[in-house]
Amino acid sequence: MKILFLCHAFNSLSQRLFVELKQAGHDVSVEYDINDTVAIEAVDLFKPDIIVAPFLKRAIPDEVWQNTPCLIVHPGIKGDRGPSSLDWALLNKETHWGVTVLQANAEMDAGDIWASHEFKMSKSTKASLYHNQVTEAAVSAMFEALEKFQNNQIDPEPLDYSNEDVRGQLRPLMQQTDRSINWHEDSTETVLCKIRCADGFPGVKDHYHDRELFLYDAREEQQLTGNPGEFIARCGDALCRATVDGAVWIGHMRDKQSEHPFKLPSAMVLTSVAENLPVFTADESTGYRDIWYEQDGAIGYLHFDFYNGAMGTEQCQRLRDALIEAKNKDIKILVLMGGKDYWSNGMHLNLIEASESAADESWKNINAIDDLALEIINTTDQLTISAIQGNVGAGGVFLARAADLVWARSGVILNPHYKDMGNLYGSEYWTYLLPRYAGDKNAHIITQSRLPMGTKEAISLQLVNEHFAKNIDDFVIEVKDRAKQLSYDENLKQILLSKNQQREIDEQQKSLQEYRDNELQRMHLNFYGFDPSYHVARYNFVYKIAKSRTPLTIAKHRRISELYSVD
Ligand code: COA
Repeated sequence: MKILFLCHAFNSLSQRLFVELKQAGHDVSVEYDINDTVAIEAVDLFKPDIIVAPFLKRAIPDEVWQNTPCLIVHPGIKGDRGPSSLDWALLNKETHWGVTVLQANAEMDAGDIWASHEFKMSKSTKASLYHNQVTEAAVSAMFEALEKFQNNQIDPEPLDYSNEDVRGQLRPLMQQTDRSINWHEDSTETVLCKIRCADGFPGVKDHYHDRELFLYDAREEQQLTGNPGEFIARCGDALCRATVDGAVWIGHMRDKQSEHPFKLPSAMVLTSVAENLPVFTADESTGYRDIWYEQDGAIGYLHFDFYNGAMGTEQCQRLRDALIEAKNKDIKILVLMGGKDYWSNGMHLNLIEASESAADESWKNINAIDDLALEIINTTDQLTISAIQGNVGAGGVFLARAADLVWARSGVILNPHYKDMGNLYGSEYWTYLLPRYAGDKNAHIITQSRLPMGTKEAISLQLVNEHFAKNIDDFVIEVKDRAKQLSYDENLKQILLSKNQQREIDEQQKSLQEYRDNELQRMHLNFYGFDPSYHVARYNFVYKIAKSRTPLTIAKHRRISELYSVD
């Protein structure tokens, strides 16, 4: 079928559906929902059999839904309506929630239902829920809906609130007052729930003395207590704030009135508060942990759960130190676990934007990632495995490929390109790693495409070695099983010997330093040269400047029309 996506942005769910539907043989093109005229023009150009709206903030123009069937992906159970479905589901502590695929009509979210899939809720942030349970349910519901749609015998189900299985209701846009924290009354669990249901967007609006702050990235503190509402400790750049029955760590904040009105680590937003707090070191029972190591016999697992997968200079340096420490342990296999929601999204663009010199900070950040990649590549005594639990983008993909093996959860989305960030050349030794693992031809395909990639395609291009398990818990269990099997493998010594021999041969042909120098020479031009594209793209990304047109890489219908107009 010819499917046109109409979406507010090509976000993670849109990317996943795009990958899955293309893989199933459909002809998919994307148009951003910029205004009615643009949407109508896109339909005229592409002439789709069906329109899919995976992430839409406005109603579809009448002219569009009246002439072409439009399927809306709504992140709610049957009967749920309104723009804050997940926020309410989390705040109301629903135990089960769902995704419903419904047909657009004159009333928002009230059209006939083609499919509805439910899932078990977890105590996660809204963003994490969206990336995981919602995305998986949306994929299966969309395939069911399309199958029914293609089979003309089956009609969709009209929304009827008298049906027993229609549990949802129309809910308003959640206001800040609905989730505002009362530090003198709310328990730790309530505070966590309120912050999570607004994370990543819009954050919970809160006040500290005369400052208005939006809070994100909250985690429970197990031991510390203090006067409710007061900041009582610091761990890295996270700040701990007391509640009536405990305390929470707040990793990130946003101060709209400040010079840098975007999300930043809390200690950078409340600098003077942070300076006067006692400093804690994180362990299993206290503090804010973003890097931790666990060992099971001959296998080491290094976790790095950085907010939004962004890796700043200091985070890369700490991770490299942890990696070196792990390599010195008596282990045969070292698994690089990343975080649950993201493995890595490369350099920390917000920190770069907030620094005094964006070019200098970019330079430091890319060098710190390169040092980390080098440490992974130069692991001689262990077999290294990148275990990709959550999505991975830009330099993060090549960092993952620095390990001997890359295992990915089925369904993660990889964005192995930097070009959308102002034509960044990229580093992380990709000019060595891609030809080495994927071959020259695939390396070319990977770097030239600006499209999101599913795990099947990533395997066919040898960017990933294996994919398995749909949800994170199952994936982690299977990673551990597989790592254990490998640790018993009689050939493991031989495998390590061969990898070290190969590395020596490669080094003689062209040293890693030479690859790095060449890549960084190009990056230096990106950061310090005359072409400001990278700085402009980074600014637009960090300040979330809406795109004024759909990139031609995904707007296939516009590519074709441009070709015709050139002819
Ligand atoms: N630095 C800082 N923040 C980042 C980031 C980075 N490298 N990558 C992603 N984020 C943040 C986004 O700003 C967003 O923040 P929010 O919580 O305020 O909404 C959040 O992570 C999710 O990212 P989003 O872009 O909404 O996710 P997506 O699934 O639609 O797209 C990517 C994923 C990786 C394609 C996209 O985030 C991206 O292009 N990131 C930049 C990658 C990059 O160029 N890195 C530098 C070169 S190594």
